[in-house]
Amino acid sequence: MTEPVRTVDDTARWVAHHRAVESARPDALFRDPLAARLAGATGRAIAECAEPASAGGDAWYLVTRTVLLDDAVRRAVAEGCTRVVNLGAGLDTRPYRMDLPVGLDWVEVDLPGIVAEKEALLAGETPRCRIRRIPLDLTDSGALAALLAEHSGRTLVLSEGLIMYLSPAEADALAAVLREAGVDRWALDLSAAGVGALVAERNRGVLRRAPWRFLPADGAAHFEDRGWAATRIDPVFPAAVRLGRLDTPEAHRLAAGPQPDPRAPGDVPWSAVVTYAPRPAGASATPSSAAAPR
Ligand SMILES: C[S@@+](CC[C@H](N)C(=O)[O-])C[C@H]1O[C@@H](n2cnc3c(N)ncnc32)[C@H](O)[C@@H]1O
Repeated sequence: MTEPVRTVDDTARWVAHHRAVESARPDALFRDPLAARLAGATGRAIAECAEPASAGGDAWYLVTRTVLLDDAVRRAVAEGCTRVVNLGAGLDTRPYRMDLPVGLDWVEVDLPGIVAEKEALLAGETPRCRIRRIPLDLTDSGALAALLAEHSGRTLVLSEGLIMYLSPAEADALAAVLREAGVDRWALDLSAAGVGALVAERNRGVLRRAPWRFLPADGAAHFEDRGWAATRIDPVFPAAVRLGRLDTPEAHRLAAGPQPDPRAPGDVPWSAVVTYAPRPAGASATPSSAAAPR
């Protein structure tokens, strides 16, 4: 396979493959029985072709971020969100595999090709809640704003494995649209500049057609300076060690030590699942260290 990732939506197959592998483990952290079907041969081929971005491969990172974002969904629903909008939903199957209220509105947004393929592959399956799939390029801010305006209840926006594929300007525009729409919260995985060195080779190789472009040096502070407040920050690396998906003595040693400042991670490879809420007008962008979630 000379060009395994042909367009950015192929990355959804790659991630689905890792969820299928996790699901087959006897100690699986989640079970996604549809993942193998959705990933297909392409997902497996991409995973086999991709050089690991760091020691230990990709599975620990992808599986851990899914676990952390599952938790973010459960919290949001328990705290009264009535709609989940999953941006760059790819081949995610949370509405089929999670225990969700039947009355929850779940909206998936992704590029037209992958939305159509997913519709076809899941045609005979029954989701746990109401679900709608919207084909949309997320750089179309007007269309996204219109979609978000459709619901009068409280909304969790979820974006898993999306933001790094946007340009910095597109990422900021997306954050502005969500802020303006008054969504209740936004949960996403965010990788900072130090990850750039790890993915540089990939960006020239397997991800040549879908490089990681948004890796903010200011970590979680990036969106805090743009109208959001981080209400929860779960760094992925120590969570992966805690969950048993990184299990080397070196990983345990590093996870037990001091962690990078999530708002100034420097050149350390740092990724976290962050939940943001819109910052109230007049509130300071930089929380005091005592109040700041780490
Ligand atoms: C790595 S995949 C993650 C998919 C899914 N969230 C998951 O975790 O399984 C990235 C997804 O973002 C989508 N994506 C990237 N840029 C997009 C854009 N401009 N508009 C809509 N979707 C986009 C891709 O099509 C792809 O499905």
